[in-house]
Amino acid sequence: MCAKLLMIPGPIQFDHEVVRALSKMTCSHVDPEFREIFGDTLRGFRQIFRSEGQPFVIAGSGTLAMEMAATNVIQRGEKALVVNNGVFGDRFVSIFKAHGIDVDQIQTEWGKAADPAEIREKLESDDYKVITVTHVDTSTGIANDLEAIGNVVKDFETLYIVDAVCSLAGQRLYQDKYHVDVCLSGSQKALGVPPGLALLCFNQKAFDAHAKLKQPVECFYTSIDNWLPIMQAYERGDPSYFATPAVNLIFALHESVKQILSEGMEARFARHEKLAAMMRRGLNEMEFTLVPEDGWAANTMSAVYHNGIADADFRRQLAQEGVVVAGGLGKLKGKIFRIGHMGAVNKNDIAATLTAIQRTIEES
Ligand SMILES: Cc1ncc(COP(=O)(O)O)c(C=O)c1O
Repeated sequence: MCAKLLMIPGPIQFDHEVVRALSKMTCSHVDPEFREIFGDTLRGFRQIFRSEGQPFVIAGSGTLAMEMAATNVIQRGEKALVVNNGVFGDRFVSIFKAHGIDVDQIQTEWGKAADPAEIREKLESDDYKVITVTHVDTSTGIANDLEAIGNVVKDFETLYIVDAVCSLAGQRLYQDKYHVDVCLSGSQKALGVPPGLALLCFNQKAFDAHAKLKQPVECFYTSIDNWLPIMQAYERGDPSYFATPAVNLIFALHESVKQILSEGMEARFARHEKLAAMMRRGLNEMEFTLVPEDGWAANTMSAVYHNGIADADFRRQLAQEGVVVAGGLGKLKGKIFRIGHMGAVNKNDIAATLTAIQRTIEES
């Protein structure tokens, strides 16, 4: 039992009902009750992604979702463009390289969002099969303007892949309206479910690109050819098997999807906006500086410069005050701390975190 308030950018502090759902007796993955739960969950994801596309729920982490998004629509000999705002842009570059795919990048200064005009120029300069954008890069806490980027990408054949691991169900995102072809996420952040599930939603343009691949997909577990019939069967309520689903995690996901949809997506976005503003206000009052440029900070997390306080000591003392935050990643390691404020978070959690930070500063 973790008695401290977990305020890292995933895994987050989970709702008790969600955690309780994990401890239900495991049933067969073809049991009628499980089929109904899984089918319901998949249908719920159309409302969460805001898409008419096909949702996939697969056992694995967010990185698996990234690899699955990439390898099902692009192959060796084709070119990808990665909009890289931090560590998770780097990760997409590594995934493409691991599969022998040529990659170009648009690298922003860390803390800055991508410029849609620069993206247009780059897309005009070459034949890119896909472009990837990280909605919220968890290493810097910036949120890219997915809608403005989508309005550029829609003018090209290029497929628009969005990493929404640190944003789905927290930061405003409407897959179809933003012209996103493949949207992907992980369970442990704003979706509010323990780590272990990869989520994706493919639209028709993505399926068409998959169908036109010159060679068969060079992977097995992550091939949508293996998973599409399974997702469709669960939605119909039919028994099916390709690889055993994470039954208990899906119980938890079902509970969380119910909660998300009963809160309502717009209300949920508004709550995240309000709580993020409260967090930023409190940090500004303590004279901390955020990593993102003004106006580009995410609503799901905050990345904050230390103001000269020793990194590990600061976080250790903060944990003694009862609040766990994360350290920096990549080149910001040792320079910043990161606070998650997504999912089931409420204003008491924000107030408790700010108070603990204030006490830690006073005592250091
Ligand atoms: C934006 C983003 N993308 C991808 C990932 C990778 O997800 P996972 O650690 O679940 O593999 C993370 C993890 O923090 C993330 O924040």
